[in-house]
Amino acid sequence: MDYRRSGIRELLASAPGVRVEAFGWVKTRRDSKGITFVQLNDGSCFADLQVVVEAGVLPEEDLKRVGTGACVRFGGELVASPGAGQSVELKADDLTVFGEADPTTYPLQKKGATMEFLREIAHLRVRGNTFGAVSRVRNRASWAVHKFFQERGFSWIHTPIITASDCEGAGAMFAVTSLLEHGETGFKMRSTDPADDFFGKPAYLTVSGQLNVETQALGLTNVYTFGPTFRAENSNTARHLAEFWMIEPEMAFCDLEGDMNLAEEFVREVVGDVLEACAADIEFFNARIEKELLATLNHVVSSPFERMTYTEAVDHLVNSGESFEHPVEWGSDLQSEHERWLTEKKVGRPVILTDYPKEIKAFYMKMNDDGKTVRAMDVLVPRIGELIGGSQREDDLGRLEARIDELGLPKAAYWWYLDLRRFGSAPHAGFGLGFERLMMYLTGMKNIRDVIPFHRAAGQAEF
Ligand code: 4AD
Ligand code: MG
Repeated sequence: MDYRRSGIRELLASAPGVRVEAFGWVKTRRDSKGITFVQLNDGSCFADLQVVVEAGVLPEEDLKRVGTGACVRFGGELVASPGAGQSVELKADDLTVFGEADPTTYPLQKKGATMEFLREIAHLRVRGNTFGAVSRVRNRASWAVHKFFQERGFSWIHTPIITASDCEGAGAMFAVTSLLEHGETGFKMRSTDPADDFFGKPAYLTVSGQLNVETQALGLTNVYTFGPTFRAENSNTARHLAEFWMIEPEMAFCDLEGDMNLAEEFVREVVGDVLEACAADIEFFNARIEKELLATLNHVVSSPFERMTYTEAVDHLVNSGESFEHPVEWGSDLQSEHERWLTEKKVGRPVILTDYPKEIKAFYMKMNDDGKTVRAMDVLVPRIGELIGGSQREDDLGRLEARIDELGLPKAAYWWYLDLRRFGSAPHAGFGLGFERLMMYLTGMKNIRDVIPFHRAAGQAEF
């Protein structure tokens, strides 16, 4: 056995009349008039291979072990399929059962299983239609992300996962320490002095690679990260994870306008690539998960995003006549309900909001001449709300220091970040796209916990 065998995807695209082997897991088995039909899937594509076993061809005691969930190998001839839905099927005359699955206890067997139930069997759910499709789309979208940036000459940067700085100033970080010991009665601290800790100072799991990747942009010009980030905010929503993947491009010699242009091009191209490469998976999502999916995605590929300032957006919200749960006025942070109203009801397609009040955005964003708003942009999309957050960065040393002081942030710790403005400062901009939010957008899946193989959220670290 070698990994270079033909997968079911290749077999289904082959011409009949050849002898082949097929490996995979049994989706269903049906017996009718002395013929056994087995739907076999190996995850290489959405479609199953239909295997037909005529009575008496295989030993009865072997065929008995072929039930839903079993892992098997069939050998036989690929023949033209009389049935609808596939052009070829496998007429089997040889069988190996690698692993049986007891149909009375196999959890994936359950009819009408809910997403919540499937989440509890995340180690098995990838064998089903929905999660196989999610995984293939996730893989292809990752590849499309790299392709997009690599074709434009961006360098992929690996930023550290452990960090001593709080990029977003949000304060919701997971501490990384070697001072904890598992005592008999729970955790015990070896010392409470950060100087005794592994890094000699408090350290955390990163909330964003941005500060580090800015250093690389001011030397390599166009760069991006694509890696895991962590947030300890205990927001138990369908759009937040404690561990999620973020893509953060950063460009020297780029302003907010250029940043928005890149974001728009990026979303459009990744969506277009996935639509083409994962057509069968997307069709499944459109039929079974979100009936507007194909229409929305095709629309994104073909129409420009709307752009408006935060101030204009607040005006629209105030005059909307809607009764929002959270009232909105100039200066308030927009909630998901506001973002969704803007993109779904007001505009009907993705919208980029710019120039937010400085009070609700991070310290590093470039100040506008009005002294009140910053060169920030958020990309909002229907069904999801915020997909991207980005900005032009403050490249003036004096203004950045003043902002850090104003917010009471530990200026000394930012010495290296400030050095970028001290030595060869350049106008630069970037953004962060939450990969799982993009996955929700691409698949129509309603809960962010279902677009990553093993989700991390409050109270959730099984598997
Ligand atoms: O808007 P955010 O916080 O921006 C940053 O982290 C910047 N440093 C990005 C940059 O300019 N380089 O996060 C960026 C995106 C959000 O728009 C959202 O899509 C996603 O990350 N995101 C989350 N996704 C899942 N779970 C969470 N808890 C998320 N928090 C943010
Ligand atoms: Mg944001």
